[in-house]
Amino acid sequence: MEKGPKMKHTTKRTIWVGVAILTIVVIWIKWDSWFYNPPEPVYHPSPEPGRILISWSGDATNSRDVTWEGDTINHQGTLQVTGKSFNGDTTTYNAKSKILKTSGGASAFFRVALRNLNGGETYQYRVANGNLWSDWYSFKMGNVKDSTFSFIYIGDVQDSINGSAGKLFHRASESRPDADFMLFIGDMIERPHDAYWGEWFRSGGNLFRTIPILATPGNHEYHKGVIQRLDERWMAHFPFPQNGPENFKGRACYWDYQNTRIISLDSNGIQSLPSALEQRKWLKSVLENTHKRWIIVIMHHPLYSTSRGRDYFYLRTLFKSLFDQYNVDLVLSGHDHSYGRAAHIPADQGDDKPGTVYIVTHASPKVYDLKFSDKMDKLASNTQMYQILDVSADSIKFGAFTTNGSPFDGFTIRKDAAGIKSISYQQLPNNAKYLMPTNRFLRTNSKKDIEKYNLERDQWLKNNN
Ligand SMILES: [Fe+2]
Repeated sequence: MEKGPKMKHTTKRTIWVGVAILTIVVIWIKWDSWFYNPPEPVYHPSPEPGRILISWSGDATNSRDVTWEGDTINHQGTLQVTGKSFNGDTTTYNAKSKILKTSGGASAFFRVALRNLNGGETYQYRVANGNLWSDWYSFKMGNVKDSTFSFIYIGDVQDSINGSAGKLFHRASESRPDADFMLFIGDMIERPHDAYWGEWFRSGGNLFRTIPILATPGNHEYHKGVIQRLDERWMAHFPFPQNGPENFKGRACYWDYQNTRIISLDSNGIQSLPSALEQRKWLKSVLENTHKRWIIVIMHHPLYSTSRGRDYFYLRTLFKSLFDQYNVDLVLSGHDHSYGRAAHIPADQGDDKPGTVYIVTHASPKVYDLKFSDKMDKLASNTQMYQILDVSADSIKFGAFTTNGSPFDGFTIRKDAAGIKSISYQQLPNNAKYLMPTNRFLRTNSKKDIEKYNLERDQWLKNNN
């Protein structure tokens, strides 16, 4: 029997009411995680120079930028620098300063841009708020002529107050004490509050004052809301190059270092179609306009997820074809609180040459449940990692290490004179010990779901060893 117009109308109305109720229920359940910002506790910054960090916004071969904090801009912030080429003299720079107010208090931020430095030279510096001086710290400029360099890559930190992330940072630094920089993949802090920023700096200690820090923002550096907002302290701590897309200056950017271009996308800043297209257009232009031998993209959210219930199809739709077209070598990500390596993703254009290697990693005490995707060649949960990359004219050597320094994953991407790529892997088989369900999974899932997890894991292990 055919439905009459009245019945059709009633069915339509029932569907709409159902959708509306479902939307309300989802928003109600997700309210806290999507929209709620816990109030920032009151804080009082110290008058002494603190949270000193070194980075670079200009030409990496001859410049460095130093930022730090204090409690007031009523006294001049200054930086003194010396080095071998100063013939025993010291040069003093006046800092640019500003007060940054948040709901919990106000801090003074200072910045000095050091320029015309010499490649390979070691410099000593200290900073002052008025007449309150910091200790002296050293940094060494990379060798301009040398096309070999190393860097440390750290995933999400999101440490608790008085946490243990510092142990991991220092372990990483001990294994490559001459690293040219440290790269953070976002979510360095649990919440955009002064106390969590303080915790991150405490964990870094002298490392952040001596090794340049590069970073891409994660969702935890953003204030939640219908439109999310990057915490103002991001820009104040990290004076990154202003070469990004118009609406993402200092958040999305690129650095050229020796033979490598490192491109940072602000994946959490993609909150609408125009913001997505703006970053895509910019990415295309910076991929097109470089002759660097190696291209590394850093973005907090990965294209290929390692975590159950997560999928970033919109990022694949936006960026994958560009990564293929411009032969991006590595995409370094975080966000999923587990480790994964995807190195056999066919190019959209369909040739079978080695393509982009996608990495997800983390350094957080928080761990998420693994998704046993056939895209992943290597997986781990329940462990924190650090990564060391050694870059030369013809290879990038990548190593991932567990907290005690044991190698977990390793591979080398090589390019011959014609730019033809090959990848070789270290013999480090996948290990069931790193593939166990998390405590949270065991607590919140039925026996049947746990059995399903174990079956999926065993099958994945069989296929990937
Ligand atoms: Fe995240």
